[in-house]
Amino acid sequence: TSIDVATAEYELGEHPDFMYKEMSEQPEAVDRCLRGRLDHRFQSARLGGVNLSPQDYQRIRRVKLLGCGSAYYAGQVGAGLVEELARIPADAEPASEFRYRNPVVDPDTLYVAISQSGETLDTLAAVQELKRKGGHVIGVVNAVGSTIARECGSGIFLHAGPEVSVAATKSFTTMAVALAMLALDLGRVRDLSITEGRRVVAGLAELPATIAKILGAEQEIADIARKYARAQHMFFLGRVRGWPVAREGAQKLKEISYLHAEAYQSAELKHGPLALINPEMPSVVVVPDDELLSKNISTIEEIKARGGPVIAVTDADLPPGLATDVIRIPKAHDALAPITLSVPLQLFAYHLARALDRDIDRPRNLAKSVTVE
Ligand code: G6P
Repeated sequence: TSIDVATAEYELGEHPDFMYKEMSEQPEAVDRCLRGRLDHRFQSARLGGVNLSPQDYQRIRRVKLLGCGSAYYAGQVGAGLVEELARIPADAEPASEFRYRNPVVDPDTLYVAISQSGETLDTLAAVQELKRKGGHVIGVVNAVGSTIARECGSGIFLHAGPEVSVAATKSFTTMAVALAMLALDLGRVRDLSITEGRRVVAGLAELPATIAKILGAEQEIADIARKYARAQHMFFLGRVRGWPVAREGAQKLKEISYLHAEAYQSAELKHGPLALINPEMPSVVVVPDDELLSKNISTIEEIKARGGPVIAVTDADLPPGLATDVIRIPKAHDALAPITLSVPLQLFAYHLARALDRDIDRPRNLAKSVTVE
């Protein structure tokens, strides 16, 4: 099978669908995104297309990331990385909200528009509104020559290759990788030490191999996913680094399986949604091996005490028997864990949707690129 575009690159080959193909391509896509951009001399990133001097970098007081859907969630991962590595206040916002709320545009803020296609109307309109008000906006875009890339004029290309499946996979991971490099670069002109810079550079360089290992554990993840195919609703929980991962994981499941999946911040569970927990309500809990590990273990215990099944997605050693099912992945650099932890959730959504016989590449009511209001 191939789609209308007459390019050999779009061929499906041996793969059952484009989502599968594109998930499988992630090690190479991440490798291409990193290529030539890791600076081993200064333990930083070289992002020529961003076109900002160290002096410009020094003037940045805030970073605002804008996108839609998975690009927005990747922006949230990026905001966490900018705050952690560069200690610059950062946040992500859906581009549509931004464009309609008469935004206060600040000259000391770096605005980042994130888009796979480079054609999403809401993101483009946010960029135009920013430019009209004199804001400085760069693009984090996959499609070279796209409208958003041209409108921004500077930024970072993902080099992920064509993405056909409506459910974003390799574009999401490469967006997060590109934003990690931006955060590293911003950090290294500020207070991020060379030693810490070296750890981040090494962590980024390891990502393709780590993602390949996660993809290699596909069968175990598929077995777990199939067990939950009869659920009607599912929670996806995470805190801090795990929160955007939970949101993107819920998004993937909704898009391709049509199950109701709700992402929630772990600690907010007790302020309402805990009332929904029962044996019919499984929770996917994202558990990074970081300083919040014990908090996440408590979250799992709270859910189990109310009879809720728990699927833990983690790079940590969890106490045996804690969760109903555990998807264990190799450990990455703490700050980069949102990138690796997102990959098993793609496989989870994919295999759950396959078990329900869904049309993976053509989910109902959705388009790959939304170029209208
Ligand atoms: C659509 C797609 C999503 C995608 C979003 C943003 O809604 O269904 O998968 O994340 O657009 O697309 P973009 O091309 O701007 O990244």
